[in-house]
Amino acid sequence: LFSNVELAPRDPILGLNEAYNADSRTTKVNLGVGVYFTDDGKIPLLRAVQAAEKQMMEKSAARGYLAIEGIAAYNQGVQNLLFGKDSAILTAGRVVTAQAVGGTGALKIGADFLKRLVPNATVAISDPSWENHRGIFESAGFPVQNYTYYDPETRGVNFAGMVKSLEALPAKSVVLLHACCHNPTGADLTTAQWQQVAALCKAKDLIPFLDMAYQGFADSIDEDGAAVRLFADAGLCFFVSSSFSKSFSLYGERVGALSIVTESKDESTRVMSQLKRVIRTNYSNPAIHGGTVVATVLNDPELRAMWEQELAEMRDRIKLMRNTLVSKLAEAGAKRDFGFVNDQRGMFSYSGLTADQVERLRAEFGIYAVSTGRICVAALNSKNIDGVAKAVASVL
Ligand code: LMR
Repeated sequence: LFSNVELAPRDPILGLNEAYNADSRTTKVNLGVGVYFTDDGKIPLLRAVQAAEKQMMEKSAARGYLAIEGIAAYNQGVQNLLFGKDSAILTAGRVVTAQAVGGTGALKIGADFLKRLVPNATVAISDPSWENHRGIFESAGFPVQNYTYYDPETRGVNFAGMVKSLEALPAKSVVLLHACCHNPTGADLTTAQWQQVAALCKAKDLIPFLDMAYQGFADSIDEDGAAVRLFADAGLCFFVSSSFSKSFSLYGERVGALSIVTESKDESTRVMSQLKRVIRTNYSNPAIHGGTVVATVLNDPELRAMWEQELAEMRDRIKLMRNTLVSKLAEAGAKRDFGFVNDQRGMFSYSGLTADQVERLRAEFGIYAVSTGRICVAALNSKNIDGVAKAVASVL
């Protein structure tokens, strides 16, 4: 049965964890996967999360199956964060939300639902994009192509190129957009550019799918939600996958959601009924723990304020690490100006390092990064940053 099974390559991101864990060097640094670490090099368990878990344990609730679409209070919380709690489309019942198994699970159920809705569509993802976007949509049966996005010369978005690629897509193509903190480049669209993209999607009858994995990591919850709200205001029907892995530091709990904006309350009812069929045949219904933690925090004013404070602390520390990395690289004698690292948004820096340089970082210094040159700035700290800056300067 298995004699002809070929050995698959390691996952380009999660595979780095395996290699990192197997590395016995004590000075090793993992800048591969997108995970936030504290200055002590630990994944934080947020105070708001701990307080919510304490409340939950005191209640000792039984663990029956959740509804197929998950916890109602969680889904409501997701909608308020994404669209703003006074959003007209929420009041009009035009948004359906289902709790999902992380952002990846949200993308997968969205992709499976789309395959039933527009089976012959093409999916367009940014060049470059998160490594898993292509795999998820291809495994749902779609052909996936790139649209122009990053310009290595300016280290920003090639917006004219992006518009040209999107305009060339056939009607009803699915366009995967990073709502904020573009992964891997950290280069986001301006508000005016988002408006243009929304108008283009409307004019060309494209289906926007906004992926929002880092809300709160660029500026604030509301500012980072701007693209989603702008698409809502433009009167479009669209998909949003979202995740609390990073913003709640709940990576292993797999807490995400898929939201779909429809044209009416009646459409919403029908869309949700079909989405539930997709979920049922994927994983039946979601898990209780992570969703309950998030719902508890979002619906308790004190815990909510505590969480927003902790999110701001993570955001500020990442910015401090960006600044420090830029100056340490200069001190270490890097000939290149790394000032652009300060302008990139979110957890990552698209450093411009080549695959060979990344490989030298691993082999010579035990520093792990994605072969595309993406490094996770959120894994830098006051103890490892000197070593990383010196190592990077030496491989340039
Ligand atoms: C990343 O891009 O590193 C994260 O989103 C983790 C993952 O699942 O790839």
